[in-house]
Amino acid sequence: RAPYYLDCDTGIDDALAIGYLLAAAADETAGIEIVGIGSVSGNVSASVGAYNTLDLLALAGAAGIPVAIGAHDPQGGSFRGGAPHVHGANGVGDVEIDKSDVAVSAESAAELLVRLAHEHEGELRVIAIGPLTNIAEALRLDPELPGLVKELTLMGGAARVPGNITPVAEANIANDADAAAEVFAAEWFITMVPLDVTMTNVFLEHHRQTLIDSGRPVATALGHMLDYYFEFYVGVYGHRASALHDPLAVAIALGEVALKTAPVVRVLVDDTAGPGRGQTICDLRGSYNGFPEQSNAHTRVVLELESDFAPVLLARLLTA
Ligand code: BDR
Ligand code: CA
Repeated sequence: RAPYYLDCDTGIDDALAIGYLLAAAADETAGIEIVGIGSVSGNVSASVGAYNTLDLLALAGAAGIPVAIGAHDPQGGSFRGGAPHVHGANGVGDVEIDKSDVAVSAESAAELLVRLAHEHEGELRVIAIGPLTNIAEALRLDPELPGLVKELTLMGGAARVPGNITPVAEANIANDADAAAEVFAAEWFITMVPLDVTMTNVFLEHHRQTLIDSGRPVATALGHMLDYYFEFYVGVYGHRASALHDPLAVAIALGEVALKTAPVVRVLVDDTAGPGRGQTICDLRGSYNGFPEQSNAHTRVVLELESDFAPVLLARLLTA
């Protein structure tokens, strides 16, 4: 089975992503295995995120997966308290999940990732759905990491649409633009799942209700969390709904979603101190006839899917 490592800032849509990944891992035909999960400060602190993750794993009966706490602060800065207005004070929409009695790993998230990359050399698929602090730290711990990892899929950035935290920057990138710049500059194959495609695939009230009506513990908890998330997104969509950022990145990493437009280009992250900080500058000019071949073009930027992601996500979550 193909080994997957997840780095996250659990968070409501991170919880959806974890639910998706667990459901896929429980499905023999998907052929995947989750070998470790790291947490990073973003929606909540790295520590709160790790415990949210452990609680979700316990709820799903998957408590054996190692969970490591990662970086509390972004490179050269301080964690600014997360996004309680989006994800609730506890990160999971103020839904109370029974506390897991499993301890966090003794390693840091970056150490866990490096160790697993060696143990699964050439096979490990990494999915990052939070700020890229841990991934950059792992690159510094072992500069050979890009050669050990099969591919990196990340939720982050905005290619042709506005940002969601500044006019040009998406939250995961903006929360540690220095780390993101390092990660995009490293020589590995990246699939970037930006706001372009995560904002246009949404859950609506009937999806949420179906999760709750399932009576399944994880699906029901996710349905209740979405109540909080839907309220935040009223200000974005004009009605109750939610973007599907992180679960879409997981589904794409698993190859369970058909991509319509996904050019492989060079991506630079603005890590300067100006108003562009955190912008993902995707060189999409390559699609014009006669434009010279790009150097360092190793990022596949997902711009459009073949079909709506919501039914795919719902089907998986109903087995979570
Ligand atoms: C990203 O930022 C976080 O708030 C979400 O969990 C997602 O990973 C969306 O910009
Ligand atoms: Ca996230």
